[in-house]
Amino acid sequence: MRTKLVAGNWKMNKTAAEALRFVHELIIGLNSLPDLSDRVEVVIMPPFPYLMPLAEKLKSTRIKLGAQNCSEHAWGAFTGEVSAPMVLSAGASFVIIGHSERRQYFKEEGTVLRQKVDAALAHGLHPVFCCGEPLQVREQSRHFEWVSAQLEEGVLHLPAEALAKTIIAYEPVWAIGTGKTATPRQAQEMHAFIRGQLTAKYNEVVAGQVRILYGGSVNAANAAALFSCADVDGGLVGGASLKAEEFLSIVRVAQS
Ligand code: PGA
Repeated sequence: MRTKLVAGNWKMNKTAAEALRFVHELIIGLNSLPDLSDRVEVVIMPPFPYLMPLAEKLKSTRIKLGAQNCSEHAWGAFTGEVSAPMVLSAGASFVIIGHSERRQYFKEEGTVLRQKVDAALAHGLHPVFCCGEPLQVREQSRHFEWVSAQLEEGVLHLPAEALAKTIIAYEPVWAIGTGKTATPRQAQEMHAFIRGQLTAKYNEVVAGQVRILYGGSVNAANAAALFSCADVDGGLVGGASLKAEEFLSIVRVAQS
């Protein structure tokens, strides 16, 4: 049985003071959900500068931290970059790789994303590898081949033990930040397809260990229907993760 995961991707939002206030509210809120521990993993993914201070605040809680990106290099003369070992040493255990905004605005694709996945795993982080098709691709009914190619580029080269530590997030580009969510049927169909790809490449046991999150306008109102799909193991939440109360409602849904 896979543990559900709810991850809040803050993107480029919040001041340091707002980040601390959010975490304070989240800790209080989660404390009122006593039997949460074994059913749902909760991760927040703030901007890099807040990882260390938030790690300090979260030390004795079960909330985990993730970064939103990392370099494919471990160290060196790469001004402005942040590496996987830095993210780990700052207290995070997850890192998003290949978010559609990184692909679109920073032209990240193919080889570099594969190298980032490898760097994350080599330094003890769980990569959250994002895939998902733009609207035009879905309209042309090419979404399965699109996602299949992204998986091939980013994660299907991994040995089975490494793949099992990897999380896949299906985020249709047309649903990100648009308020237009995939229907539970569309999400389940793609998640089952992704698991099928993993089964074909590895086997059913390995494929059954990998958590596949849905992302794209998840909120407290639509989370229940999405998370009840057999192959949806939780959500990567953007906009609705910025307010502690709303994020908590989504966590509550995931544990029910
Ligand atoms: P959204 O973002 O929930 O605001 O659509 C999700 C994401 O980009 O991870």
